[in-house]
Amino acid sequence: MPPMASATVPLVTVFALFISAAAAATVYTNHTVGGTNGWFFNATTNTSAANYSDWAANQTFDLGDYLIFNTNSNQTVIQTYNLTTYGNCSADESDNGTFVYNSGHSSFGEALAIVVPLTIEGPNYYFSDASYGVQCQSGMAFEINVKHGLGLPPSLNQPPPYIEPPGPDTAYSSPVTAVPPPSNARVNVRLVLYCLFASLL
Ligand SMILES: *[C@@H]1O[C@H](CO)[C@@H](O)[C@H](O)[C@H]1NC(C)=O
Ligand SMILES: *[C@@H]1O[C@H](CO)[C@@H](O)[C@H](O)[C@H]1NC(C)=O
Ligand SMILES: *[C@@H]1O[C@H](CO)[C@@H](O)[C@H](O)[C@H]1NC(C)=O
Ligand SMILES: *[C@@H]1O[C@H](CO)[C@@H](O)[C@H](O)[C@H]1NC(C)=O
Ligand SMILES: *[C@@H]1O[C@H](CO)[C@@H](O)[C@H](O)[C@H]1NC(C)=O
Ligand SMILES: *[C@@H]1O[C@H](CO)[C@@H](O)[C@H](O)[C@H]1NC(C)=O
Ligand SMILES: *[C@@H]1O[C@H](CO)[C@@H](O)[C@H](O)[C@H]1NC(C)=O
Ligand SMILES: *[C@@H]1O[C@H](CO)[C@@H](O)[C@H](O)[C@H]1NC(C)=O
Ligand SMILES: *[C@@H]1O[C@H](CO)[C@@H](O)[C@H](O)[C@H]1NC(C)=O
Repeated sequence: MPPMASATVPLVTVFALFISAAAAATVYTNHTVGGTNGWFFNATTNTSAANYSDWAANQTFDLGDYLIFNTNSNQTVIQTYNLTTYGNCSADESDNGTFVYNSGHSSFGEALAIVVPLTIEGPNYYFSDASYGVQCQSGMAFEINVKHGLGLPPSLNQPPPYIEPPGPDTAYSSPVTAVPPPSNARVNVRLVLYCLFASLL
């Protein structure tokens, strides 16, 4: 017979793994658009810094996540739910489903980090309407499909564009602090099941 103490080790492991699996399932993700390449257009070569459709195809987007556009004022960020607007590469601000995130910059090349919360489920479209649509036609455009995930945190439970709520909001600040890759959650669930079986034997 093994000593009692050794039987408690897998139990502790099971609890630790349950906690980490639960943590992985309750976080929102920040997606840096284009990864380290950012959101840039080179007017000399007429190309985008990344293939944004390919980049988007590799991610899972959920309500409450953020898109982070690391860019400068030579590009714009237009968000739309309107496929016509997206296909035309031209922002129509009279359309209530279209939002311009970085208007008001007068100088070229000003560094910007544009933060866009995902607040509506389903297809969301993004493009840069700078250079009269040329940027958008040459790769500065992508579509994402936003899934329900955990649903919106209370601080984002309002129509876009996101407006900072008055005062501190603890409900928002806690869930976004840790963003482990989603694949960890699956691994952990399998480990938990394995450990559960192991502890029952
Ligand atoms: C654009 O591409 C050209 C040719 O590769 C390069 O020389 C230039 O530095 C690039 N411009 C920017 C702003 O990255
Ligand atoms: C997408 O993910 C796969 C597998 O993780 C990786 O091999 C590929 O390079 C990724 N593509 C992009 C555009 O990030
Ligand atoms: C999409 O935009 C076009 C052009 O601005 C407009 O005519 C149309 O009504 C919009 N569609 C929706 C569903 O808002
Ligand atoms: C498409 O964009 C052009 C400008 O690039 C604009 O004049 C036209 O009204 C737009 N059409 C729609 C349907 O939004
Ligand atoms: C735009 O307004 C119409 C009519 O008021 C509404 O049905 C639609 O959901 C709105 N779209 C967005 C994205 O807010
Ligand atoms: C921004 O655009 C201006 C005007 O087209 C150009 O001179 C400048 O090189 C661009 N800067 C960057 C960082 O792309
Ligand atoms: C850049 O690409 C767009 C769309 O593909 C094209 O209309 C435009 O003429 C190109 N501009 C240059 C300078 O090559
Ligand atoms: C991005 O890559 C896809 C293939 O993965 C290709 O069809 C598409 O034309 C590319 N987009 C750009 C802007 O290069
Ligand atoms: C995600 O982006 C939001 C908005 O900028 C920020 O408040 C939050 O700290 C970011 N979370 C992480 C894990 O970087």
